[in-house]
Amino acid sequence: MAVEVTREGAVAVVTVARPEALNALNSATNQLLLAAVRELSADDSVRAVVLTGGGDKSFVAGADIAEMQGFTAEEARRFGALGQAVMSGIEAAPQPWIAAVNGFALGGGCELALACDVRFAAEKAKFGQPEITLGITPGFGGTQRLPRNVGDGWAKYLVLSGRHLRADEALRIGLVQAVFAKDELMPQALKLAQELAAKSPLAMRYCKAAVNAAADTDIATGQGIERDLFALAFASEDQSEGMAAFLEKRPPEFNGR
Ligand code: CAA
Repeated sequence: MAVEVTREGAVAVVTVARPEALNALNSATNQLLLAAVRELSADDSVRAVVLTGGGDKSFVAGADIAEMQGFTAEEARRFGALGQAVMSGIEAAPQPWIAAVNGFALGGGCELALACDVRFAAEKAKFGQPEITLGITPGFGGTQRLPRNVGDGWAKYLVLSGRHLRADEALRIGLVQAVFAKDELMPQALKLAQELAAKSPLAMRYCKAAVNAAADTDIATGQGIERDLFALAFASEDQSEGMAAFLEKRPPEFNGR
């Protein structure tokens, strides 16, 4: 099974597990990932997702080079479109996705981490877009999400050189939000996921959508989207509960309505 989904209460843990290829994404794995993304997105009881790689060496070492080697241009287009659908599905998911990057996050693996909302890394994690060394370009959204996350300079440095970054360097440029010792990575990712899972799922969805919109719109359009989502939040029971709980000095209990 190349993609495992387990549950810890309201948190789902998705593990890409192809140990024979350092969890590289072939078409079959991307199909399984896409199915998992769709299933979790449609499940209201899932309030946050942690995504990681099986084993202790790799998050995802990229798209599967053995499968890609003999591709025609048209097959490459289909393969790229499938990978992009996985990444866009995660980005558009109603729940927050946290990447727990436990090792190599190269090529499609770096792109997979970038599609998540938050990235935590283990100290020994490595990040990069080494496609240039294979004579190709990134194909699962890396040329678009990297500059949005780390700016053009770092994006070009990584994409044009194919060099790998250590976790501390990835932290410095804002590619990841925190770095932990290997044994602390999953506990910390799960801790954040549980924390996010306890918040209003409606407000979570609106906040994610509003920030996502910032990457693709001018500020006037973006503020229009923000205004509408802000207004919509006031039509929810969660808004009444959240504000009442604050004023009554008690923890809120959100019901997602
Ligand atoms: N695709 C297919 N198989 C892969 C793979 C990949 N991306 N990455 C690793 N593997 C396989 C290796 O071929 C090897 O298989 P065998 O045992 O059968 O020989 C096994 O996983 C273990 O890998 P290594 O022996 O190479 O392990 P290492 O510790 O010496 O090196 C590594 C680790 C630096 C990650 C190295 O495996 C590597 O450079 N992998 C390729 C990374 C890469 O180029 N990724 C980008 C792919 S292109 C892409 O992703 C395009 C896109 O955007 C859509």
